[in-house]
Formats: sequence, structure tokens, C-alpha cells
Amino acid sequence: MTEALHVVTGAFGYTGRYLTERLVASGRRVRTLTTKPPPPGTPVEVRPLSFDRPEDLADSLRGAETLYNTYWVRFPRGQVTYGRAVENTRALFAAARAAGVARIVHVSITNADERSPLPYFSGKAVLEHELRESGTSHAIVRPTVVFGREDILINNIAWILRRLPLFVVPGSGEYRLQPVYVEDLADLCVGLGERRDDVVVDAVGPETFTFEELVLLVRDAIGSRARLVHAPAAVALALGSVIGRAVGDVLVTRDELRGLMDDLLVSAVPPTGTTSFRAWVHAQATELGRSYASELARHYRPN
Ligand SMILES: NC(=O)c1ccc[n+]([C@@H]2O[C@H](COP(=O)([O-])OP(=O)(O)OC[C@H]3O[C@@H](n4cnc5c(N)ncnc54)[C@H](OP(=O)(O)O)[C@@H]3O)[C@@H](O)[C@H]2O)c1
Repeated sequence: MTEALHVVTGAFGYTGRYLTERLVASGRRVRTLTTKPPPPGTPVEVRPLSFDRPEDLADSLRGAETLYNTYWVRFPRGQVTYGRAVENTRALFAAARAAGVARIVHVSITNADERSPLPYFSGKAVLEHELRESGTSHAIVRPTVVFGREDILINNIAWILRRLPLFVVPGSGEYRLQPVYVEDLADLCVGLGERRDDVVVDAVGPETFTFEELVLLVRDAIGSRARLVHAPAAVALALGSVIGRAVGDVLVTRDELRGLMDDLLVSAVPPTGTTSFRAWVHAQATELGRSYASELARHYRPN
């Protein structure tokens, strides 16, 4: 009997890597759609993430039982807009339907909303809606902010705390986050891949922090003596843009800050993850923020 195929977008990325590890460990045959070169010795079959060639995309998905989709873009840059990311995901869903994929596990975000002024959140909501209407068996997974070794946001907070005497907290710092561990997210996705009912699930960690509490937690864990100062969001963004230019990256965008300050990275439903952010930060304290994690290096520079 031929073994069922499972396709993951971004198996060499952040969330996709942990998802893939679990599928491979349980003996599943895994194929990835990616723009990244495969690491040596990977057991994963590799095909291009070729949104502009729908037949090739469908061909890569033919025979797959489940598609785990992590594809999205963090911020718009050049031709890579949120509109393009929506179109690309539509092409992926259409290819999955054409290929007869039995189930789609789609990673979205908490508080996705078609009426949101933030295109990250509205674009995700449009895709959720289309997947719900598509007739394909699906699970929509909506993480808050994801933490783990390859994370960018928390790592770069630690990086700033290690290097600068001051950390600028935008606004009151009272807005909240409910971080979820990347491995808990991966477990949730794989579990949902095995079901056949249509579900929408928030992926949420067990602890909620205000932004200021989170920064203080990281600061104290890594032994930084940086002082926290409050400034309007516009000032924090301007400083962020200076740091971004210095490291050749985009540190944070206006929309990301707004999503954070509007409390969009918390959920009203009970936690699905069990891993403590507090404990994880302490366990990672010697390594966290030692080097800067660059979004542009990850996704826009030649490998
Ligand atoms: N990270 C978080 O804190 C967080 C929070 C809430 C929701 N999410 C959602 O979780 C999913 C996975 O996020 P992640 O952080 O784990 O992402 P990731 O691994 O960095 O990227 C996921 C996938 O998107 C592709 N991709 C990312 N940026 C791209 C770009 N600029 N151009 C072309 N392709 C790009 C990657 O392609 P390659 O395989 O070619 O690298 C990969 O297939 C996303 O849908 C995201 O919206 C993440």
C-alpha cells in the first residue's frame, strides 16, 4: 500500500519545521512547497511554491491527504503585498481542490476580521471565509504570537535589551499578549489534520502578559539593565526604523504595532497550549537575543 502523502508549505521555516518534524517522526510521507533549498539529508520531498504555475502546484498536491498551510507574508515589501499573499493562498486552495486533497489545515491569526483596518488581519479573515465556504474539509488555526527558538519578535526584544541602555515601550505598555509555543502550535495542527470536521481553533498559550510585563520578564531573565521608558507609538516606530536601517531589516511596522496595541494578540477562549512562556524565557536566557533575527534575511535575500 502506498503511504498517504502530507504536504506542508514552508517545512524549512519556523512553524512548518516543527509541524514537519512531527509528521516525519510519526512515519508519514511529507512533501514541502517552499522557496528554500532543502537542508542536506532531509527526509522531506521538495517542490517549489509556484503560485504563478497553478498546474504545477496542483501536480505537487496530487495524492495528498492533508495540506498544512503556513504560507503568509509578515509585511508588504515591493511586489510582495498582502493582496498578493491573499491571491497566492487562493491559488493554493484552488490547486488543493483540483488535486483532490482531502483536508486543509490552514494557519491564520487570532482576531482575523474582514472589517479590520489592518490588511494582515482582514486578508486572513477573507481567506478563512473562503475556506469555510469551499466545501473542503478544513481546520483553521489562529495563533496569537508564536514563541520558539526561531522566533523574531521576542528574540529581537531581547537583542535590543542586551545592546541598548533604554527600551522604548510604545504608549502605556498595558496592551496584552498571550504567547503560544511553536511546538504546542505544531501539535495542535497535526492533531487537527487527523480530524475530518470543520473547525476554527485559536492557538493560545497559558499565560497573558501586558507588553511591559513581557519586556520586563525578558529583561530580568537575560540579566539586562536596560531602563524601560514610555513614548508615543510614533516615536517608538521612528526609533524602530533607525534600528531597522542599522541592521538592514524592518524591525517592526506601524500595522504590527497597532495590532499589538489594539489587543489583537490575545484570545477570549481557553488556552490550547501548555508551555509556559515565563519558563521558556528563563530556559533560553543565555541564548535569547544574542544575535538579531532578520525577516529580510529570512525571506528576501538569496539563500
Ligand atoms: N510567527 C508568529 O508569531 C505568528 C503569529 C500569528 C500567526 N502566524 C501565522 O503563522 C503562519 C506561519 O508563520 P511563521 O512565522 O512560522 O512563518 P515562516 O515560517 O517564516 O513562513 C511561512 C511560509 O510563508 C512563506 N513566506 C513567508 N514570508 C514570505 C515572503 N516574504 N515571500 C514569500 N514567501 C514567504 C515561507 O516560504 P519559504 O518556505 O520559502 O520560506 C513559508 O512557506 C503564518 O500564516 C503566519 O501568518 C504567525
